[in-house]
Amino acid sequence: MRTICVVGTGYVGLVTGSCLAELGNRVICLDVVAAKIERLQRGELPIYEPGLEPIVERNMDAGRLSFTTDYAEAVRDADYIFIAVNTPTVAGGEGADMQYVESAARSIGKNLVKSVVIINKSTMPVGSGHFVSGVVRKHLRNPALTVAVVSNPEFLREGSAVQDFLQPDRVVLGSEDRDAALKVGELYLSLRAPIVVTDLATAEMIKYASNAFLATKISFINEIARICDLLGADVKEVAAGMGYDKRIVRAFLDAGLGYGGSCFPKDVKALAHMADEAGLHPQLLEAVMKINHDQRHVVIDKLEGELGGEGSLRGKTIAVLGLAFKDNTDDMRDAPAIDIIHWLIGAGATVRSFDPVATEVARGLLPTEGITYCADEYAAAEGSDAVLVVTEWKQFRQLNLARLRDAMRPREAGRVLVDGRNLYDPVEMKRLGFRYHGIGRGTERRAATAQPTDEQSDAEQSDLDGATGE
Ligand SMILES: NC(=O)c1ccc[n+]([C@@H]2O[C@H](COP(=O)([O-])OP(=O)(O)OC[C@H]3O[C@@H](n4cnc5c(N)ncnc54)[C@H](O)[C@@H]3O)[C@@H](O)[C@H]2O)c1
Repeated sequence: MRTICVVGTGYVGLVTGSCLAELGNRVICLDVVAAKIERLQRGELPIYEPGLEPIVERNMDAGRLSFTTDYAEAVRDADYIFIAVNTPTVAGGEGADMQYVESAARSIGKNLVKSVVIINKSTMPVGSGHFVSGVVRKHLRNPALTVAVVSNPEFLREGSAVQDFLQPDRVVLGSEDRDAALKVGELYLSLRAPIVVTDLATAEMIKYASNAFLATKISFINEIARICDLLGADVKEVAAGMGYDKRIVRAFLDAGLGYGGSCFPKDVKALAHMADEAGLHPQLLEAVMKINHDQRHVVIDKLEGELGGEGSLRGKTIAVLGLAFKDNTDDMRDAPAIDIIHWLIGAGATVRSFDPVATEVARGLLPTEGITYCADEYAAAEGSDAVLVVTEWKQFRQLNLARLRDAMRPREAGRVLVDGRNLYDPVEMKRLGFRYHGIGRGTERRAATAQPTDEQSDAEQSDLDGATGE
């Protein structure tokens, strides 16, 4: 049985530690936030991540998984130490903030009593492997100890993190010490995934290049969506038609509100910053970021377009469905909902919101006035002038749309629903009497065509209610 320490018990550290315990290792997870560790010691998860709780419980019960705030205890017997602390954008800047990594490396160095392999699991700028190794060595109390550093970037997605960790597309290991990289590879052998062994800088770059490529796909399809809206094409069908091409692949071609969350925004920014610092202007990355920034405002423009033009949001009530940056998570870091709700309230609107899991996390990030947190989607829609879908929660796809429509304030031109995630079928929404706008569904061009009034749609509705289901 190998002994592993995981430093940083957030989304990545907790999943990594729990899954490595599940694979039969003895794992101690460490964090500097005592309240988080106390909750975990009581068996409570500090984050929402489907499928994680039973793994934590099972491995704690089996004595393979434990939690501490004490570095000396955590590193004493460890053969492997993973660093999984946060690497956000530096305050007021663009590059990655390495203060948490530096602090972790310092504490590891001070407390090491045996030779060890340190694994950089956090996303860190190219060159960080040498940085970590330097900081640890500088603080060693016993200079005879050997410290090898391996970059092992993580590719899991929040919401499916357990499955992604246990069934990875590939495992990347980069080191100047090939034996150390192969030793880390042994931890993953039972997963039967391709293992890519490289030098340190290459492994670090694989992570940034992967995230930047996925972000590029998202900005690409969002630009195509804007063109579709103007030319009357449907971006969902465009993406489906493109996606059959094996060179393109359908994944990450979902037009919407752009990328958010704790990784893509900061990692694209950090990569562009690294390029800049090295003397290369990152033209493509700049465009990717600009498109993403503008994309969040598209839904505000669509709402204003429907409600009477610029300034028309004043005094209106907007139901916002979804707060988390994507479905199946409570992570609100850089969630589009934060910007969108600030813009709505800033424009004089009142917001009624609902999210299945992220409301508590969101409260601290959203304005204290002008927003009501509702118990469900229908309560959020109650008396609203428009519904805005922000997160692609599965349950939103299964709404009783007639009930949602009837909860809204009646409107002669039809009730307005702006679907920032393209969950619904424009034809069905029109038949239900909505003034429906997706992203890139060709609706801007078709908006000029007549829509049924509330009375017409109510009459049609009696035939359709049964079909929408709940
Ligand atoms: N969240 C993801 O989906 C994801 C996916 C792949 C890679 N990553 C990368 O993994 C890293 C961690 O991301 P996360 O989302 O888990 O972050 P997080 O903020 O959820 O967790 C980081 C944890 O590290 C702890 N920490 C900070 N400094 C510490 C120190 N000196 N000693 C011990 N603990 C310390 C924090 O208290 C926190 O609990 C980041 O570099 C991120 O870019 C994240």
